[in-house]
Amino acid sequence: MSNTATESLTGPVRTATKRTILMCKPTYYTVSYRINPWMHPDAPTDTSKAVEQWQSLYDIYDELGFDIALIDPIDGLPDMVYAANGGFVLDGVAYGAKFRYPERQPEGPAYMEWFGANGLTVADPVETNEGEGDFLLVGDAILAGTGFRSQSASHAEIASVYGREVVTLNLINPNFYHLDTAIAVLDPEPAADGTSNIAYLESAFDEPSLAILRERFPDAIIASEADASILGLNSYSDGFNVVIAARATDFDQQLRAKGYNPIGVDLSELLLGGGGVKCCTLDLHPVGTGTSRARE
Ligand code: ARG
Repeated sequence: MSNTATESLTGPVRTATKRTILMCKPTYYTVSYRINPWMHPDAPTDTSKAVEQWQSLYDIYDELGFDIALIDPIDGLPDMVYAANGGFVLDGVAYGAKFRYPERQPEGPAYMEWFGANGLTVADPVETNEGEGDFLLVGDAILAGTGFRSQSASHAEIASVYGREVVTLNLINPNFYHLDTAIAVLDPEPAADGTSNIAYLESAFDEPSLAILRERFPDAIIASEADASILGLNSYSDGFNVVIAARATDFDQQLRAKGYNPIGVDLSELLLGGGGVKCCTLDLHPVGTGTSRARE
């Protein structure tokens, strides 16, 4: 099967890793409030189109051989489709989300209930945080965003939950209010050369954060403003196949040049809520795979 592992003739070897993810069908999706600049409650949304587009993302993941778990959508929680915000899961522990805005707050307990019912130990959050929207595992460390949603106190909290290095990054542009709108993790597990790479949008970060990113990721892909403006960085990689917004054409070429296999998908309807591919995808990092480790 051509999509499980490959060796590019020019670039480094890329290996697809099997992912286990959680998704939520947008049965009750709409834009009825405004908590980010992408949302326009007065403009119409088409729920059945959102469901169709989401289904095409699901089908791509299914064809890539991912294990896909589903959480039941809840009427009245239109943003629940953005499963990445429902928590952060690693080492068999789910650190629950505590949403900034009241409109989304009931999602926190709903996701925590799912985590508990599915064999995970739930760490109840004290601090405001929006799960994998702002926390990204890269190698052994957790990159953590703040500035718009997750508070920096949650960075200390997640560090104590997992006992891992947590790297604080400050977001400065309200259009890129979650870390996963400004950084794409390209290697969910270390690549053949032992490193884990990312792509990012420079203008989304303050100078100290940029200095950290440049030092830690000298080979990162620097995304174009044009691609970022359609949330092109909000993508999901298995280490070889990278599911991206179909319109992110610069990113497509940058990925190919580095030996990845970009797969485009159109989630235009979900972009009206301010989310893309990654927002719809929560990585469950099952224990014993990749960079997850059993807890003592
Ligand atoms: N309307 C949602 C919000 O503003 C969109 C969340 C997008 N999710 C993400 N992981 N960036 O909270």
